Amino acid sequence: MRYITTPIYYVNDVPHLGHAYTTIIADTLARFYRLQGHETLLLTGTDEHGQKIEQAAKARNFTPKEYADKISSEFKKLWDEFEISYDIYARTTDSRHIEFVKDLFLKMWKKGDIYKDKYEGYYCISCESFFTKIQLKDENACPDCGKKTELLEEESYFFKLSKYQDAILKWYEEADPILPKNKKTELVNFVQSGLKDLSITRTSFDWGIKLPDEIKDNKHIIYVWLDALFIYVSSLDFLNQGKNAKFWPAHLLLVGKDILRFHAVYFPAFLMSANLALPRFIGAHGWWTKEGEKMSKSKGNVIKPKDIADAYGLDAFRYFLLREVPFGNDGDFSETMLINRINSELNNEFGNLLSRIVGMSLKYSNGIILNEGILENFKTEFDVVQKHLEDSIIFLENLQPNRYLEELFKALAVANLSITKYEPWNLIKKGEVKKANALIGLCANILAKVSLLLSPTLPKSTAKVAESLNFKIDTKNYQALILEKQLLNFKVNAQEALFTKIEKPLLAQEAPLQQEQKIKIDDFAKIEIKVAMVKACENIQGSKKLLKFQLELDNGELRQVLSGIAEYYKADELIGKQVCVITNLKKAKIFGYESDGMILTAQSGDDCVLIGPKELVLNGSLIS
Ligand code: MSP
Repeated sequence: MRYITTPIYYVNDVPHLGHAYTTIIADTLARFYRLQGHETLLLTGTDEHGQKIEQAAKARNFTPKEYADKISSEFKKLWDEFEISYDIYARTTDSRHIEFVKDLFLKMWKKGDIYKDKYEGYYCISCESFFTKIQLKDENACPDCGKKTELLEEESYFFKLSKYQDAILKWYEEADPILPKNKKTELVNFVQSGLKDLSITRTSFDWGIKLPDEIKDNKHIIYVWLDALFIYVSSLDFLNQGKNAKFWPAHLLLVGKDILRFHAVYFPAFLMSANLALPRFIGAHGWWTKEGEKMSKSKGNVIKPKDIADAYGLDAFRYFLLREVPFGNDGDFSETMLINRINSELNNEFGNLLSRIVGMSLKYSNGIILNEGILENFKTEFDVVQKHLEDSIIFLENLQPNRYLEELFKALAVANLSITKYEPWNLIKKGEVKKANALIGLCANILAKVSLLLSPTLPKSTAKVAESLNFKIDTKNYQALILEKQLLNFKVNAQEALFTKIEKPLLAQEAPLQQEQKIKIDDFAKIEIKVAMVKACENIQGSKKLLKFQLELDNGELRQVLSGIAEYYKADELIGKQVCVITNLKKAKIFGYESDGMILTAQSGDDCVLIGPKELVLNGSLIS
């Protein structure tokens, strides 16, 4: 039995590349387990409570539930379009989950693991995480995401996390549950440095699960992480011991490295407190960046998974994500690398092999491929291929998808190289027809075996291979072709090319500006324009045009910006005025000075006029 989960995604933002990455790995594994014949369950869903969601909803004039409904359905729609084979789409606002969490809280309370006290410390709303002063970076910034934290002083219920410190360390040691293995050291150090009891309720906002009635304290709501983590259990209808309850403990919880601590420290402690079994594995992957930078809306460099899949195909997108980066490492998204992998691997090694086999068999043997003579003539090649297949399985089971794919492509290379080496067309000319047919049989069997194992990653294109070679991708054939090393006969049908060579980048080509001069609202949203106060302004020696500004933005942040308006304004006249400035431009060096932004002006005939708000507004106010 294999139960596998993705994190449940916050509904304060629409799906991006990072979400697609976790979900596609989870889907690949679920498909692989099913192929192996395991009874498998895949869960994904959305995390909908907490201060962050409440704020995001308010900012858009929605109630939190309306907002959660809207974004949750966007996630679901994308996963459906991506044909993610989830069995459960779970939401923390489901009544079954709410009931479970209340019951859980009560159990932990009755056990004596929860007590009431006062919380004094810092809170990062973005990470929904508590910190002490010494953990913070400069200016009280969150050590994880860098955003400003807020000081909290409120009555709170605490969980006796410290009580479970030794048990957690023992679990790491005995069960070895963390993948990749090198992530364990970090966790061990964190736990060994001493676990403090954890605040698990909040009182300063509403959007969450209330305490169970028995505790009679209805101003508290349950901490969003305690709520969210138990989605993995509650969704199995565990409280009523429904038919899926048997799937707990999960085989694998897939998470990003940023949320490993919640899953591998807090969650096991909560589970132990609730007398529930611990998951077998927790796998933490790295982060995707774009050209070396963290993706964020304010930088305007967020990659939309749908855009990539629409341009290059879902299979190619899946392949790239799994192949490009060793699981656990960070990866940089590059369209060039994606194209290279499509052209040199998917097209040349995989797609072309099918075309060659189909072409040769239709030409030489009426599309009939028999498995005769393969082992007599090509035993060495066959053995090498079987070894690659076996290794690929081990790699995927150990959560090393890039190496699993590498092995499968090594197996394909054996087929492609054998064709080049033995040249079946020459064998036929020389009258060695049996050997030529055996070679085609070898290659068709390699392609079928590889396609079986590739099918969890490339469901669409391997289905086309199966259709063309007339065999089934199913557990029975997994058993026969992979485990028992059997060889098949085939009756081949013609098939259009699996992939086409990509000649030029498709994403850039689709950029709206190149097609028409209009931009989408999303493109406008990439530009961050704020109101700033001129605190200082001076001419730059040697330049007639430039003025050097010191501008004040939010929270007193000062920025240096250069602007070419010296011919229109005297520097000292501008001090104290409010201007509009683009704040998310890449920094530039002008005349040897750094300029971090661009001041907006209107070109009025020959004049140049600064733009600012009609009335005084807060410095840093966003213009939209
Ligand atoms: N709601 C919590 C998870 C609760 S699970 C009980 C959460 N949600 S999230 O939407 O912010 O993030 C979900 C996942 O996306 C995390 O695993 C995170 O690591 C991953 N990613 C977010 N940005 C990412 C990249 N840029 N790259 C790769 N994954 C990243 O955290």
